[in-house]
Amino acid sequence: MAVSIRAADPAAHPDFFGEVTGVDLRAPLAAVDVAAIEAGMDRFAVMRFREQPLDDAQQLAFARNFGPLELATGDIAQGAERRLSMEVNDISNLDKNNQVMARDDRKRLFGLGNMLWHSDSSFKATPAKYSLLSARQIPPTGGNTEFADMRAAWDALDAETRALVRDLICEHSQLYSRGSLGFTDFTEEERARFAPVPQRLVRRHPATGRLSLFLASHAGAIRGWPVPEARMLLRDLTEHATQPRFVVAQTWRTHDLVMWDNRVTMHRARRYPADQVRDLHRVTVADSAPTLEQAA
Ligand code: OGA
Ligand code: MN
Repeated sequence: MAVSIRAADPAAHPDFFGEVTGVDLRAPLAAVDVAAIEAGMDRFAVMRFREQPLDDAQQLAFARNFGPLELATGDIAQGAERRLSMEVNDISNLDKNNQVMARDDRKRLFGLGNMLWHSDSSFKATPAKYSLLSARQIPPTGGNTEFADMRAAWDALDAETRALVRDLICEHSQLYSRGSLGFTDFTEEERARFAPVPQRLVRRHPATGRLSLFLASHAGAIRGWPVPEARMLLRDLTEHATQPRFVVAQTWRTHDLVMWDNRVTMHRARRYPADQVRDLHRVTVADSAPTLEQAA
């Protein structure tokens, strides 16, 4: 059976959020299938594969079709603290013993930052290309992931705002995103690891040539701008980009694999009951270079 891709909601979003069928991600893929998936990503930016019961090794092998992977250096838990390997981001509310974390667990509080709109690893010098998120255990209610189409958000900006933001450079850091929630008790090691990095505010997709806004709650400054003015503009742009008309929601089923292009989307987790298990594993394909080194 060949890979088949269609819009999940063609009436509302003909070119955003594709549904992929006809492929078993546990097995090695033919080059034509990899090419079809890349082409689907160029069009839809977010794609869902249902009924893919993957383990970490299979998920990693699938992701490597799309480029070199990142290490999970953005997670707060490092070394012996980690539940999962360094190639797998732990998107769960579980501790090392697979128990739901205590309410005041520092890793849990840090992880709540995923409920802010963001693009993965925009706080790294070279940010993320694709993220691939695999649902291992899903709470009975809540816990959707929402995605915003930053190409459509750019297209809908007025000419004056486009001209204002076109060449701006932001500073991104997890110190900013977590700080906005009042999470500020970082160690010296974490402050160094999460030091701000520059990113273009407007970028061009290398395959489609489309422009998009590159925003995230990690963005906390704009080069050459007073901080309050920068943050106000970033808030305004985020409010614009996350209007319901640009947003789709993923309602998780166990064994869903959702893949998104961080260059042209933002996403956020939604709330779910604190005593329920939510366990997703993410692997991340690195982008080719820092955004300032990419063609704008
Ligand atoms: C992620 C992420 C959101 C969620 O995996 O990068 O932000 O719904 N996940 O868990
Ligand atoms: Mn994320």
